[in-house]
Amino acid sequence: MKNNLYIEKVKNHKKIFTNLEEIYEKKWKWQDFFWNKNPIILEIWTGLGNYFSKNVNDNKQKNFIWMEITYKRCFKTAEKSLGKVKNNDNSQNNLELKEKNDNFVLVKDYWEKIPEIFDKNELSETIIFFPDPWDKSEKTKKRRLLQKNFLENLYKITKKSWKLFFKTDHKEYFDFVLSELKKTNWKIVFKTYDYEKEGLYDANSITEFEQIFRGQNLKVNYLEVER
Ligand SMILES: C[S@@+](CC[C@H](N)C(=O)[O-])C[C@H]1O[C@@H](n2cnc3c(N)ncnc32)[C@H](O)[C@@H]1O
Repeated sequence: MKNNLYIEKVKNHKKIFTNLEEIYEKKWKWQDFFWNKNPIILEIWTGLGNYFSKNVNDNKQKNFIWMEITYKRCFKTAEKSLGKVKNNDNSQNNLELKEKNDNFVLVKDYWEKIPEIFDKNELSETIIFFPDPWDKSEKTKKRRLLQKNFLENLYKITKKSWKLFFKTDHKEYFDFVLSELKKTNWKIVFKTYDYEKEGLYDANSITEFEQIFRGQNLKVNYLEVER
């Protein structure tokens, strides 16, 4: 098997948690961990971190917890957020740190574990951009992140009146999520099948996957739901 150079780098990184015991003992203690009462934003699936590193730098009054599973993506996201590596494209501004970024941590764990990581009312917002659509068959569709059980769990750990933000280029998945939301208590406050048409597109604030879809001229579906 090919040696993954990022395993050791991630295990020794002060901004990435890999030890599950250490992660799960923070449940209901995330505010203490950040040493402030600022809103906690969960971002699931950071990818290579272009968007997420910018977000953490532009929003010092918020704390960010990111979940990602691959070693390389965890490492790249953390290093970009610390201003140590550049973005791998020219379509976004590279991060210029205004001050030290202490308002984030990466959790290398599966999204399925959110009930073990967060307690009721612990989160303010959740951001999920371009999750895998698992669209090959009915069997693979069962692996989709956004479905009733996950949405209900997320509802419990989100504070009242705060939101979940979701983007996908996959229209069928988007419609599937809308129908799953109807089975939950989430309130849809905004939805569009083309968020660029709504004037919401910002070329300096997109993820790597969105950059790919831009090249293919695909429309991006966007949703905001409130607890
Ligand atoms: C399609 S990519 C999107 C990445 C990023 N949001 C973007 O828009 O560029 C999906 C990401 O989810 C991560 N991932 C897949 N399954 C996961 C799971 N069960 N828990 C956490 N992350 C997962 C993958 O490593 C990959 O980075």
